[in-house]
Amino acid sequence: MRVLVTGGLGFIGSHTVVALLENGYDVTVIDNLYNSKLVVKDRIKEITNKDFKTVIADVQDEKALDEIFKDKIDAVINFAGYKAVGESVKKPLEYYDNNLTLTFALLKKMREYGCHNFVFSSSATVYGNPERVPMYETDPVTDATSPYGETKVMIERILKDIAAVTPDFNCALLRYFNPIGAHKSGLLGEDPNGIPNNLLPYIAKVATGELKEVNVFGNDYDTPDGTGVRDYIHVVDLAKGHVLALKKLEQNPGLVIYNLGTGKGTSVLEMIHDYEEATGVKIPYVIKPRRAGDIATSYANCDKAAKELGFHCDYTVLDACRDGYHFQVEEAKRKKEGK
Ligand code: UD1
Repeated sequence: MRVLVTGGLGFIGSHTVVALLENGYDVTVIDNLYNSKLVVKDRIKEITNKDFKTVIADVQDEKALDEIFKDKIDAVINFAGYKAVGESVKKPLEYYDNNLTLTFALLKKMREYGCHNFVFSSSATVYGNPERVPMYETDPVTDATSPYGETKVMIERILKDIAAVTPDFNCALLRYFNPIGAHKSGLLGEDPNGIPNNLLPYIAKVATGELKEVNVFGNDYDTPDGTGVRDYIHVVDLAKGHVLALKKLEQNPGLVIYNLGTGKGTSVLEMIHDYEEATGVKIPYVIKPRRAGDIATSYANCDKAAKELGFHCDYTVLDACRDGYHFQVEEAKRKKEGK
């Protein structure tokens, strides 16, 4: 089975390509290197000892897509897209344009070439500020709190409308909770440019001394210790979820929706303590005001993915902290050596 992975050199994409290659899939990657590095291709090969086709181009480049789809593509996993929540608030037009247009380009090309299987990277953000936790797939999809989140809501809607009138279209909407961690080799991980927005990349930079202390955004939420609670899932577990989703699509299920999380919430302060325990590094922090748009608590009910996909997590938050730190240290060494 040949799978096209868009954004396959990015954080979640690269781990998913590893999982696909390890499970015998033939993989083609398209990536424009907007938020990723070409060297990731070699690192994936080093981990898996397998080769795969990589096209460095934008998903909106029709010629590049034609070249790819000429070799029969059986399924598409779409990771490509802008994903910085804060930036999306400042640049809504760019976010709506890019994330929606590239999805249209893919879906049209799939239709043209008779490819019927699509996996979409959605997000827990489609649940907005939930009335209760855990979140179930049947919970209402509401206004997201940012244009980035809204692109996820809109694309879900578009895919549902297409599925409703296209009997042979199979589509998995995978709603990720908070992906963290890195590949245990230290070769793949999350290394955002500039000052990280997300908690774990920020903690990692405090751990290596690049940043002084973690800003804890609010300790007056209605949570056990007052800090925000999230469902942090190891990226290798999340990657495995994509392989399972593809297997599901082979059964022609139409449109299916799955939460991919652990089902367990961890607060910001618990995460800082877990990171210290996993790595032995002290993480200084200060309490700051709440960050605009944040919700108190978010964690998944994952029973549906467990029952229908056989999905379960192999790794804990401590494993993710350890692997994320390992990657950060190795990446800093590689940068020093100019690699
Ligand atoms: C956000 C997005 C989500 C996206 C995810 C990427 C929303 C509502 N959520 O999730 O769609 O998929 O990023 O991983 O748009 N925190 C601090 N200090 C920091 C950074 C974060 O205290 O420096 C806290 C936050 O207040 C929050 C928790 O840590 O309680 C997690 O934040 P973050 O890692 O940014 O993820 P989310 O906001 O949950």
